[in-house]
Amino acid sequence: MTDSNTVAAQQPAGRVALVTGGIGGIGTAICRRLAQDGWRVVANHHPSEQEAAVAWRNDLAGEGLTVDTIAGDVSDFEDCGRMIAAIKADQGPVAALINCAGITRDKTFKKMEEAQWRAVIDVNLNSVFNVTRQVWEDMLEAGFGRVVNISSVNGQRGQFGQANYAAAKAGMHGITMTLAQEGAAKGITVNTISPGYVETAMTLAMRDDVREAIVASVPMRRMGRPDEIASAVAFLLDEANGYVTGANLPVNGGLFMH
Ligand code: CAA
Repeated sequence: MTDSNTVAAQQPAGRVALVTGGIGGIGTAICRRLAQDGWRVVANHHPSEQEAAVAWRNDLAGEGLTVDTIAGDVSDFEDCGRMIAAIKADQGPVAALINCAGITRDKTFKKMEEAQWRAVIDVNLNSVFNVTRQVWEDMLEAGFGRVVNISSVNGQRGQFGQANYAAAKAGMHGITMTLAQEGAAKGITVNTISPGYVETAMTLAMRDDVREAIVASVPMRRMGRPDEIASAVAFLLDEANGYVTGANLPVNGGLFMH
């Protein structure tokens, strides 16, 4: 079941959008934007974040937005199955999935331990299989679906200290291009967004001098804002943009162009 204590009973009448990592920095902005656009938004969070999720939901309710939350470990296929079944029973099938859950375990490769490699691959890449596999058949059956994978500029160009993260983020777009082909004739679009450095707890956790040096190299000379990523998600979910599929949309202030 979705989390108890749902604040307001009124749900927008739209389709269901699930955002993994939905209570994080970028995830929150995506949830807010999609709720404003009339989606019935469900924000996934890690099971350990139950209390934070209730506070988060109350904050959004204070803004007049009804967003449901659900616990689920995206690195665990079985738990994702349980989560998707609960959403389907409560809200209906997932019509839009935004794979946004992600972690970093930055280390130079010579110091990287197997656990740091595996954690990032499990949460950032295997999660895309674990969640998308469980909603894909419903999308095929409905003849409509939207999948957006939130990758990273560092999946496109690599990054010193991020062999694990860059591998996972590059892998996400491999899944995108394949599912885009498999879903194209069935009304499903699958796209990647590759944000640059965005103002979130994840980038705040970096060493100040390292972050400042990177920001200085961004042509726009600033970090991105979470709502700028959310705006790109809204674009890809829009039925008017149903001819865009298999794309990797950079939202990076000019940091990487190809
Ligand atoms: N290119 C080449 N050499 C570099 C380098 C770079 N970009 N960065 C550091 N080095 C060199 C250093 O000069 C140093 O050289 P010496 O040993 O000769 O002195 C050596 O590499 C070790 O560097 P550090 O002292 O920085 O090593 P560390 O172990 O203290 O830190 C690290 C390693 C934590 C990975 C640090 O380099 C770092 O934070 N890198 C940036 C990682 C990053 O960008 N993370 C993004 C997190 S946010 C995110 O991921 C969101 C997103 O999608 C963008």
